[in-house]
Amino acid sequence: MKLSRRDVAAYAREAAVSVLITNVGELVTNQPELQAGAGREGPGPFAALAGAALVIDEGRVAWTGPAARAPAADQVIDAGGRAVLPGFVDSHAHLVFAGERGAEFAARMAGQPYRAGGIRSTVAATRQAGDGQLRANLRRLAAEMLAQGTTTFECKSGYGLTVRDEARSVALAAEVTPEVTYLGAHVVPPEFDGNPGGYVDLVSGAMLDACAPRAKWVDVFCERGAFGRDEAAAVLAAGMAAGLRPRVHANQLGTGPGVRLAVQVGAASADHCTYLDNADVDALASSATVATLLPGVEFSTRHPYPDARRLLDAGATVALATDCNPGSCFTSSMAFCIALAVREMRMTTQEAVWAATAGGARALRRADVGHLGVGARADLVMLDAPSHSYLAYRPGVPLVAAVWQGGERVAGE
Ligand code: NIG
Ligand code: FE
Repeated sequence: MKLSRRDVAAYAREAAVSVLITNVGELVTNQPELQAGAGREGPGPFAALAGAALVIDEGRVAWTGPAARAPAADQVIDAGGRAVLPGFVDSHAHLVFAGERGAEFAARMAGQPYRAGGIRSTVAATRQAGDGQLRANLRRLAAEMLAQGTTTFECKSGYGLTVRDEARSVALAAEVTPEVTYLGAHVVPPEFDGNPGGYVDLVSGAMLDACAPRAKWVDVFCERGAFGRDEAAAVLAAGMAAGLRPRVHANQLGTGPGVRLAVQVGAASADHCTYLDNADVDALASSATVATLLPGVEFSTRHPYPDARRLLDAGATVALATDCNPGSCFTSSMAFCIALAVREMRMTTQEAVWAATAGGARALRRADVGHLGVGARADLVMLDAPSHSYLAYRPGVPLVAAVWQGGERVAGE
């Protein structure tokens, strides 16, 4: 579904006129209130309309409701009974890297365990790569995401781990998304073996200074084999003092202090949450920190899936994201993550689709995406299917018929 420049320009011209998408079999809005302006506060709970229509005007959702009551528009698209959803919001991805680790994956499937240290091989390849090579890989992955319906994504640094390489990673990420995360504290690089404190100082000092101007978020891999609680707390505090907002890689490979640290610092999200004790679940449930689950990682590392049901029943907000990276999970497919979450993590199809759209928006503290309330950015996915449930019901099947981003049709018919 690759578009030429001319196609993109033609679609952009179309976006200047209002568009009515009618005869929508199921319109997932994540916004039960339909009056004008109801969506300004961001996504609400899962909500969907049958036999619906939606109007796009000036890049925003201008109207939603029953197809029979739809207002006139400059252009009409007949969805033919197919489902329309908010574009997916992938709130966790590592897309600035060089090289690949297919052999490491194959070895894992043959019984080897996943080790955080594998990150170092991608660091070595990334340091050697030219800017053009990194940019081309990044853009290819971003295009791959968009064609699969992901209209908002977060992108981390973390495979450079020198001042120069982290700064260029953050700068490249900022070319493709506003949701840029500084992850200098991914692992301790080999030149700091035996001196992790020296590396924490660098990440909290000169490296942060070089990265903060182009980043929005600061992240740390708080895990045995990466950074301990106090080191992680120091990195997050320095990042927050520089104006970045915190998010944390927490409890991926075992229980530990990551989730509680995330909640203590008011992180927007604690990501992975694979190994949680009751205190972690309680902390997430009684906070605004989103539990972002990354089931592609469990698929690709043979770790047990996190129990989303336990989190949801306790009252935590759950997001789903891909974690797209060359090591622990090399998928860019939100549909795949939804299918895994439904099959393996005790989520309903509604909960999983909500988590992949509205949940991601909450994890990025975005009110304008993840829902189709009036006023939301017109980021839409039309499925070649009558209902959102087909994303799990027909796993592995490419169901995305068309994608709109900011009112512009960027993929599909
Ligand atoms: O989110 N956990 C740390 N970072 C990545 C893995 C990166 C890698 O293995 O290269 C993750 O899983
Ligand atoms: Fe990650």
